[in-house]
Amino acid sequence: MAYMFWRELIRTYRERDPAARSSAELLLCYPGVHAVLWHALSHWLWIHGFLLAGRFSSHIARWLTGIEIHPAARLGRRLVIDHGMGVVIGETAEIGDDCYLYHQVTLGVRGASSGKRHPTIGNNVIIGAGAKVLGPITVGDNARVGANSVVLDPVPADTTVVGMPARPVDRKLPRSKTPHFDPYGMPCDDSLDPLVRDLEELRAELTEVEARVARLAAAQAQQRQDERSMPAGE
Ligand SMILES: CC(C)(COP(=O)(O)OP(=O)(O)OC[C@H]1O[C@@H](n2cnc3c(N)ncnc32)[C@H](O)[C@@H]1OP(=O)(O)O)[C@@H](O)C(=O)NCCC(=O)NCCS
Repeated sequence: MAYMFWRELIRTYRERDPAARSSAELLLCYPGVHAVLWHALSHWLWIHGFLLAGRFSSHIARWLTGIEIHPAARLGRRLVIDHGMGVVIGETAEIGDDCYLYHQVTLGVRGASSGKRHPTIGNNVIIGAGAKVLGPITVGDNARVGANSVVLDPVPADTTVVGMPARPVDRKLPRSKTPHFDPYGMPCDDSLDPLVRDLEELRAELTEVEARVARLAAAQAQQRQDERSMPAGE
């Protein structure tokens, strides 16, 4: 079981992080991998009633990785914490499957001092570097939070939010049945790719030029025919 857990985690990093070259490198040099594996132990201790041991275990992980995850926090499968330094995940935070957090992300408290105080993050969410998500709000599936945003309100599924306080950007992300990941949260389908967009524009211009050439050729042919059909001497 534990073997499957870390194999799955390593595979996810290799698929998602363009900089990851080998499993050995991931196991040795990726604080996000260490933090998530260590959290499995801290969380086990916590839920089995060894509260101080769980807390101490998470403290060691923080010391080693720079990533602070409270042992009570609930993390989904295949969580990637890229770079990691400065990430804080609070006690009542919950994170779904296939999420991707960059360094200095905080899932923190806004004001309340008891009960559910931290955010609930859906599946397949990307949270950019330095973003703060505060309070017991929900971030919907497939949402993206821009770097350095401060999120204070719930974020609907398939939405990108940016700024301080974070607001949705105009574009609604395309819904996809299959989980999809774009490094750095950048455009999610080919129609948003600037290169594809440029090619589409070029293709449209070419079609327009071809139509104009055809119109000119037809006009020229018509003119020649008119000249030929004119009675001689006119
Ligand atoms: C939020 C994000 C996912 C949006 O990417 P996108 O879909 O390509 O969106 P665009 O770049 O077209 O930006 C859409 C709008 O949001 C603005 N915007 C994008 N990111 C922003 C941010 N972090 N803060 C404030 N505004 C931002 C853009 O200026 C643009 O505004 P406009 O429509 O007025 O011109 C991306 O900008 C981002 O922040 N990704 C996280 C990257 C990260 O953490 N990298 C760390 C790697 S180590």
